[in-house]
Amino acid sequence: MNRLLNQVSARIISNDEVLSYPGAAYFLLRLEATVISNTANPGQFLMLKCGDDCILRRPLSIHGLCDDSRIELLYRVIRTADGTPPGKGTDWLSQQKKGGKVNFIGPLGNGFKVAAESKRLLIVAGGIGFAPLGFLARQALSHGRQVTLLLGARSAAGIIPGNMIPSGATCVITTDDGSTGKKGLVIDMLPGYLEGADQIFACGPQAMLEKLASLPELHSKPVQVSLEVRMGCGTGACYGCSIRTTHGMKRVCREGPVFDIKDIIWQEVSI
Ligand code: FES
Repeated sequence: MNRLLNQVSARIISNDEVLSYPGAAYFLLRLEATVISNTANPGQFLMLKCGDDCILRRPLSIHGLCDDSRIELLYRVIRTADGTPPGKGTDWLSQQKKGGKVNFIGPLGNGFKVAAESKRLLIVAGGIGFAPLGFLARQALSHGRQVTLLLGARSAAGIIPGNMIPSGATCVITTDDGSTGKKGLVIDMLPGYLEGADQIFACGPQAMLEKLASLPELHSKPVQVSLEVRMGCGTGACYGCSIRTTHGMKRVCREGPVFDIKDIIWQEVSI
């Protein structure tokens, strides 16, 4: 299939700031996208065109589906000290209003694979890594699985609002400064929740994922991680997102973004 032909112009239902702290804000974008809402899976992403000034589309993880016709994207806008966003694309996107339209390609990528026999999932999200994992958690809960969600941020201001946490999940919050939840790094809490977990899923900063990969307690557990990297085409054509794995070079946009954590050669990855 030529994915470049699979473009959708979708109406914006809402585009609201849901979280803000010094240096960044998170927005939840809801789109009318009936054409893909029945085929998108947790871990997949869309490539959004962000205005005429941005040549490259922006990859955004799918955060959820609702009502068989709507798709949700949770994204972060970085802001510098003087308030200037360094990323033109997400800044443009954050200014789009209800009723407007955005053009995207997708769904793209492989998505998470939940084994049929898995009953208990342990999900580890750092920062905006919650975007694909919130979708995974909701879907798993709707299929009768138990979900424990470990959420980490630097401080209370960076923790996802309670109304966005999938209901039915056991949620454990950690912050680096202890301003809410348990004090410490989310990865440091993880060993205490491993027992009984059939599969582990994670997304977050590279340092977090690398530390996860180094935990000896995890070597006997199946762990999938979703990588967030810079992308050019998003469709497998440019090879700009390639990473080195134990199975050779892989394109994050086509063979990923979800990988078995054991397959990634972390010392050669920079995301
Ligand atoms: Fe072009 Fe992945 S972004 S191949």
